[in-house]
Amino acid sequence: MLQDQHGRQLTYLRLAVTDRCNLRCRYCMPEEGIDFAPKGALLDYDEILYLCSVLGELGVTKVRLTGGEPLVRRDLPVLVRGLADIFPRLAMTTNGVLLPKYIDELEASGLRHYNLSLDTLRPERFHRITRRDNFAETRLALEEMLHRGYPVKINAVVMRGVNDDELLDFVELTRENRVGVRFIEAMPFNDDDGNHDVFLSYADMLARIQAAYPDLERVGDAGGSSVNFRVPGYAGHVGIIPAYSRSLCGSCDRLRVTPKGTMLNCLYSTKGLELLPLLRAGIGRDELAELVQAFVWGKHATGHDTERAEQQGNIFASMTSIGG
Ligand code: GTP
Ligand code: 5AD
Ligand code: SF4
Repeated sequence: MLQDQHGRQLTYLRLAVTDRCNLRCRYCMPEEGIDFAPKGALLDYDEILYLCSVLGELGVTKVRLTGGEPLVRRDLPVLVRGLADIFPRLAMTTNGVLLPKYIDELEASGLRHYNLSLDTLRPERFHRITRRDNFAETRLALEEMLHRGYPVKINAVVMRGVNDDELLDFVELTRENRVGVRFIEAMPFNDDDGNHDVFLSYADMLARIQAAYPDLERVGDAGGSSVNFRVPGYAGHVGIIPAYSRSLCGSCDRLRVTPKGTMLNCLYSTKGLELLPLLRAGIGRDELAELVQAFVWGKHATGHDTERAEQQGNIFASMTSIGG
């Protein structure tokens, strides 16, 4: 079992498979992209599966594929098949653009749990946020997932003056659809302005929703990154993710591996365990397991503590280098 010094068990791996993306969301990356990792700097699939088989033996039961956009990594369904042999729970966070193309193959590989990034329900605004014209594909991905009966969660990064006038439209999407809509606080991970001008807090979002739906009720505490609510009688639910306020750290069960093979204890970590050179040098299973156990033991109590201990004021160029 992987356990940290604060008594938390780490059973959930967020595996970022690429730092590339087919969109250019303004809160995430500049138009020209970032300094993307060359292919040889990424863990290859054999290295990922070797690492994951050790993590599986150490009690990790769930993996979420993230990125960048995971579906731009070549032959992803091949990796998913390998992961399905290790972990009982597989999930992916995707912008959905390429999903219709791969959904059958991914389902056959064992993947049916998606979080879909969709920050607006308006086509013209989609282009303004993402700098690309793929609104139709993303909506199609959502329809397809709902049609198949998959449990779907939508991630909407809420930005003041950009899409915060759509909070209630998103809530209305949960009236008929069994979907979870999660509003995310914008985090200061981009190369541009750090998202400070557009930041809207958890508390502000909740106040606005409660003003329109005074009978909004709290629902279940099934772990996860969101605090969840439901409008009575609605089919789906609404969540808010305090990604920046970081009020959920006490129950954190996550460890992260970046596309370049750095293991991180926290989304706000800048220092980690560099696994790529160890894997390329042929590290044995027992030695790898011991290193990982020692590393996760040192996880800080909260993301604020991590930031204080590790960040020294600098921010990431993009969340794609961490995997979210
Ligand atoms: P599930 O709980 O498995 O559904 O995943 P998730 O909601 O954590 O994952 P997803 O990739 O959909 O991330 C949604 C948002 O939550 C993103 O903005 C993430 O960066 C943020 N997030 C995910 N994990 C953490 C975390 O451990 N800490 C913080 N502060 N934010 C997180
Ligand atoms: N702040 C908050 N959320 C972000 N995401 C990407 N960058 C940021 C940021 N700076 C979201 C994506 C995706 C999830 C993994 O994280 O939109 O839904
Ligand atoms: Fe876990 Fe860090 Fe996120 Fe807190 S901020 S929930 S400690 S990863």
